[in-house]
Parts: sequence; C-alpha cells; structure tokens
Amino acid sequence: MKQQYKQITALVPKPFVKWAGGKRQLLPILSQHIPKNFDTYFEPFLGGGAVLFHLISKNSQLKCFVSDLNSTLILSYVTIRDKVDELIMSLEEHSENYFKNPEEYYYQVRDNNPKNQIDQVSRLIFLNKTCFNGLYRVNSKGKFNVPIGKYVNPNIVNKENLQILSHVLQSKGISIKCEDFTTALRKAQEDDFVYLDPPYQPVSSTANFTSYTNDNFDYKDQERLFIEFKKLDSKGCKIMLSNSKSQEVIELFSEYSDNIIEINTNRFINSNSKKRTGHTEILIKNY
Ligand SMILES: C[S@@+](CC[C@H](N)C(=O)[O-])C[C@H]1O[C@@H](n2cnc3c(N)ncnc32)[C@H](O)[C@@H]1O
Repeated sequence: MKQQYKQITALVPKPFVKWAGGKRQLLPILSQHIPKNFDTYFEPFLGGGAVLFHLISKNSQLKCFVSDLNSTLILSYVTIRDKVDELIMSLEEHSENYFKNPEEYYYQVRDNNPKNQIDQVSRLIFLNKTCFNGLYRVNSKGKFNVPIGKYVNPNIVNKENLQILSHVLQSKGISIKCEDFTTALRKAQEDDFVYLDPPYQPVSSTANFTSYTNDNFDYKDQERLFIEFKKLDSKGCKIMLSNSKSQEVIELFSEYSDNIIEINTNRFINSNSKKRTGHTEILIKNY
C-alpha cells in the first residue's frame, strides 16, 4: 500500500480531456519562459490543465488558484478530486456499453442531458474520448453535436491517470473555481505568477476559428484581458500570456512589444488535415 502511494505521488497526471488550445505539446517551449521564482500560481483559463500539472510536478506544495468559465469542466475537476472511484465506475459502464454497439450507444449518450454530477462528468469524458476529433465543444445553443469519431479501441477509462490526478488535486494548496478571469485574478499579488491562455483572437476573418472560440470570447474580451494584464503588471505580478499572432493582439499589447516572443507550433486539433501545418503564435511577458 505504502509503495503504491509512493508511485502515485511520483507520477505527473496528463490532461484527462483533449481541450481546444491545450498546451501539452507546447510545454517544452513554455516551460523555458516560466519564471524561476514566484509565490502563488494563477491560471484563470485552465482548460485541460497541462501547465498546472507541469508546475505541480516540480513543486507539489505550490499554492494555486485555478479556474475556468466552463462549468462542466470545473465540475469534472472537482468530481475527480472528491469522487474518483464513483466516476471510474460510471466510465467503466460507458465503456462496456460502447463496445457492445459503438454507434448506437454514442448517439444515445450524446442526446442525454444528465442532471446527476457523476453522470454529467462521465458523459463529458466519454464523449471527449469517442467523438470525432476528440474535442468536447458545444454549439451556440449549448448543445453538443459532434459526430462519433473513428476509433478502433478508444481508451475511455484511463483509471491510473484519473487516480493520480485525484491525488494531486487533493492538495490543500489548490483552489478550483468556475468564474470569469477578472474575478479569479482579484487575489493576485506582487511576485505571484499568472499564466493567461484565453481563447485566441482569430487571425483573419476567413480563418475558421468558430470551433475554437465557442466560448464567445470576442475582441471586447481581449480588451478586458489587456486591462487586467496592465492591472496585474502594476501590482508587480509576473505575467505570461498566450495568444494568436493576430494584428489586433499585437496592436492591443503594443506597449509590451519588446516582450513579445513568437512561437512556431502545430495545431493538431484542426479537423482539416491540410490546415495542420505549423503556424506561429505569440507569448507576451512582462518580465
Ligand atoms: C485556450 S483554452 C485554455 C487551454 C488550456 N491552457 C489547456 O492547456 O488546455 C481557453 C479556456 O478559456 C475558458 N474561458 C472562456 N471564456 C472565459 C472567461 N471569460 N473567463 C474564464 N475562462 C474563460 C474556456 O472555457 C477554455 O477552457
């Protein structure tokens, strides 16, 4: 038993869902820009949590305030923390039913709208693992309408990862909330580190970013974010922000132009394989 506990603490959890704009693949680059020393960590656009998990693996005692406006996503984190065994049982049931008749079962779950906490979260994870392109996203009416994906053997229940994640999230130092980023950042103080990874500003009017910006994050929100960035800067926080290399963002943050770094990346989540070529995004830092 003791040994099992030791193993769990030594492992780093992976994001439990594939999330639009997920930063797992960019971690080798992003980690080079994370400040060496800081007090508390703030991540108000948490998504799949790749950066949080990376930081916690370096310092399990880190004090963190993490949040997102997506309520089902935050409910998932809380459920994994508090009720992981029940969640795993529910996912195992989904998995068993799916393999009996994938197509029929997938659409049955997709059309359900469960009220119970465990069922809501296991539905999100199940759909994320089995839907086309592996991305859970709702349309403007809040409905999930993505068709079934072409998977031979989807890993619906990643039991070990959920258990590791549950253990990590039980750390007293981590606060998880569903709220807008401005509310989440009120507590940030001098020497805290804030990573801002908002839904990206579309690069051109022709770019199909609808799948990416379902969060209804428009240019006004980018402006709100800029105001927040300046506020945090004047408080003495260390801030790192990811965004697309769009003209609007570069102009909005022009006073930080000496601290804009270009990053070449591949956006693996593009459903059109022809568009899966490398592209450039930006990092803006105030340190
Ligand atoms: C680019 S994703 C973050 C991806 C994350 N870094 C990862 O590795 O998965 C942006 C996130 O911002 C959230 N979001 C959208 N509008 C928001 C708002 N006003 N306040 C807080 N979060 C918001 C979305 O739900 C989404 O999870």
